[in-house]
This record gives sequence, C-alpha cells and structure tokens, in this order.
Amino acid sequence: MNMLLVDSGEDDSWIEELTRCLPDFDVRSSVGDVDLAEVTHVAMWRLPDEQLAAMPNLEAICTMGAGFDHLDLDALPDVPIVRLVDPAMANDIALYVLSWVIHFQRGLDRFIANQPSATWRGDVVTVFQRDYSVGVFGSGAIGQVVLDTCAHHGYATLGWSRSNHDRPLNQFFTDCDLVVDLVPLSSATRGVIGAGELAALGDGVLINVGRGATVDTDALLGALDGDLRAAVLDVFDVEPLPANSPLWSHDKVTVTPHIAGRSDPTTAAPIIAASIAELRSGSLPAATIQRSGMLKHRSPKAPSA
Ligand code: GLV
Repeated sequence: MNMLLVDSGEDDSWIEELTRCLPDFDVRSSVGDVDLAEVTHVAMWRLPDEQLAAMPNLEAICTMGAGFDHLDLDALPDVPIVRLVDPAMANDIALYVLSWVIHFQRGLDRFIANQPSATWRGDVVTVFQRDYSVGVFGSGAIGQVVLDTCAHHGYATLGWSRSNHDRPLNQFFTDCDLVVDLVPLSSATRGVIGAGELAALGDGVLINVGRGATVDTDALLGALDGDLRAAVLDVFDVEPLPANSPLWSHDKVTVTPHIAGRSDPTTAAPIIAASIAELRSGSLPAATIQRSGMLKHRSPKAPSA
C-alpha cells in the first residue's frame, strides 16, 4: 500500500481530509512512529533533510503552502516536488488585502487617530475607489486574484511582474497609493523594495503578504519615520518576529503573524490528492517546481495512444 506522510504537526484535520481524499493510501502524521522505508509520498511544509533522505521508496513531495523559498531544492530527494496552488488561499489573501485597502482608502486610520482628541473631521476622506490605485508587485497567480478582487470593488489597479509590466519599477511605486508586495523571494528579489522604491511610494501604504526579506527593513523604518503613511506586515525576515523588533512598536506599522493566506486542509487536500493521482498516472502536474538541472527521476510516461 502507498503511504503518505503528512507534516501536519498537531493538526489532525490534515490527516482526516487527506485520508478521505486518498482512500487507497495509508495516511500518517509525521509526528507519529512511521517506518520511513514505507513512505511513498510526502505532504509537507518542511521536514528535516535527514528524514526525507531515509525514505528509499519516496516517489513525490507535495507542499502544503504556496511558497517554497524555505526549501533547499538541491538538498531534497530527486523526486517531483509539486507546490500547492489553492484558489481558496488566493481568495483568503485577496480578502485580507481588500480589508486593508478599504481601511486606508476610506481613511479609517485617520478617524481612529482623531478619536482621542474628539476631532470631527469628515474632510480627511476625499478619495473614491476609482481614484485610489492599488498596485500588486509580483502579480503572478495570487497577485492576479488580489487585483481582480480590488478591481471588482471599483479600485484602480496596477500589476507589476518581472515578465509583465508597462512601466519601470520606480514609476510603478510612484503611481500607486498602496502597494501589495507578493513578489516571490529569490536572490534577485532580496531587499528589492528599498529606499528608492519607498521614496517613490511617497505617502502611500505598503502591505507585505509575500516574503519579509523582499523588503529592506531599515529602509522601511526610515520611510515610516518620513512620509510613508503605513505598513501592514504579515511576513518578516525572521518569524516569529522577535520581540525586540522595532516594527512591533512603530505607530505606523500593523503586524499580523503570517495569517493572510491560510492553508485550509478542506480545500487543499483534494488538490494534493489530484496532484498525487496525476503523478501516479505518469504526468507531471503543472504546479511541479522546476529544479535546476535535469531531474534524474523517471520521466513521465508517454501518453497512451
Ligand atoms: C505561505 O506563506 C505560503 O507560502 O503558503
């Protein structure tokens, strides 16, 4: 029998949902005692390399999240790795972003700031949705859902990705009232939002729901001490965010603990099961991560005539 080992921690719902979706698999939690030689498939956020290396019969790895920058692909077994692409997670992120877009476009931060001094000022909110530009930096699949959700609610939207943009990056930051950072982390994007980009954003807002290390934190703190209106940060260079980080106490920063896009076993398990079924039929799912160099593992079977 095939065995799926799941990096589910204490959360039994992953085991329940995957067992339901994969009736011909023995689905086990990585927390329990398992004979690693029996494991044929793994669903994981991150498992120790030594544990994976001790699985001689491993056929594939499915990730339980969208990002995979935390994985050292070269150190992982030479089997297909399929990342989780879950539309429900993209929607979760889009709604998180939308709630903050509304917050700033409607000036709720300003009303909250005016309350202690009993200041009644309705004129601080003059911007309608069509005049409020929401930009997504890193407008891939999830970014597009964010853009579509904001556009659906009447906001002006702008996307920017390395392969698809209509203006230089600095101009993009200048043209946005609020930028959502969703750019994947790589050596090319580490600290890519720096002093120049933040200066171009001016008195706008930065929301980071991608990866913390894509923003230069010192430059961000500098911009917040200057014109930048606010930063909403869900992701950080180091997580959990250390208690002594100045981001915790900055009055223009809202910290949320990496919850913008949740992996929901109810929606994710059928997607992981479908990837496993596709792999077992001999094809590589579209969400298979491209690894440098040729994979040595077996190639997918040619489609039968
Ligand atoms: C969360 O950050 C994910 O990559 O799924």
